[in-house]
Amino acid sequence: MTAIAAKSAASEIIIAKTIAEVRQTVQTWRQNKLTVGFVPTMGALHIGHLSLVEQAKKKCDRVVVSIFVNPTQFNRPDDLARYPRPIDQDIGLCQKSGVDLAFCPTESEIYPNGNSTKVHVDGVTAPWEGDFRPGHFDGVSTVVSKLFNIVGATHAFFGEKDYQQLQMIRAMARDLNIPIEIVPCATIREDDGLAFSSRNLLLEPRHRAVAPAMYRVLTAAAGRMRQGDNPASITADAISELRAAGFDKVDYIGICDSTTLSPLQKPAAHGRIVAAAWLGGVRLIDNIAIEG
Ligand code: PAJ
Repeated sequence: MTAIAAKSAASEIIIAKTIAEVRQTVQTWRQNKLTVGFVPTMGALHIGHLSLVEQAKKKCDRVVVSIFVNPTQFNRPDDLARYPRPIDQDIGLCQKSGVDLAFCPTESEIYPNGNSTKVHVDGVTAPWEGDFRPGHFDGVSTVVSKLFNIVGATHAFFGEKDYQQLQMIRAMARDLNIPIEIVPCATIREDDGLAFSSRNLLLEPRHRAVAPAMYRVLTAAAGRMRQGDNPASITADAISELRAAGFDKVDYIGICDSTTLSPLQKPAAHGRIVAAAWLGGVRLIDNIAIEG
């Protein structure tokens, strides 16, 4: 298949469906000594994703976005089935944002021979999301290492929104000597504090009204950590506050080391507070730095 070039006022975007097209284009850029920023996504692009693109554009000569709903990282079939896939809208947003190449592969392009080889990162993946989404991080580390090998970028941009994922990718790139710089990007939030997420589209209005409580509760918990309170009592209170605000179920509130994600047992002025909770059948995750 040949790459399709679509013209827009802002820039010209290459829409690539095959690995061969991506490799060829990026190789040419790299031969010309250009830096290449890579933003992996699962589409349903929002302002959070676009902030990664913006940072990639600032730091690099060329920007590649991948749009691929990776089936191997979904541990619930219903979550995969209802994941939003507005591909035309996504390509339009990429075009407007000045993305140079959008890689939109099919499942068989990425997994032509099934999925017998997996990348597993120990340690940092064990707690929190690891406890509640078995197999999820192996799906992410495997697809991201494949995408890194396919694209051959100099830099990759990941959001702090998925904080444990970001730390896992950093560990993976370090441990496997992948020659790429991982650039962390701050979480972008709506005015009421709710972190932008593709899953927010699935919230009913009455649940959307409750959702900002997660950021409020995390902010209050970080404040108490800074005042020297005990992590165990802060966690217990935060869980009660989320339930009282209207969340159906809290998977975890974790107060942990910023790099290893290991739980902190004692008061500390630095670290991360991570959370996952259910609202009307939608699972929301968020996190905040203790130090603010
Ligand atoms: P996805 O959920 O589409 O997110 C793509 C990138 O956008 C991730 O790095 C994520 O942290 C970042 N992001 C999402 N919401 C954000 C926000 N509100 N502010 C800042 N950044 C935000 O994460 C994945 O896809 C997948 O696991 C992937 C890495 C693509 C592998 O399949």
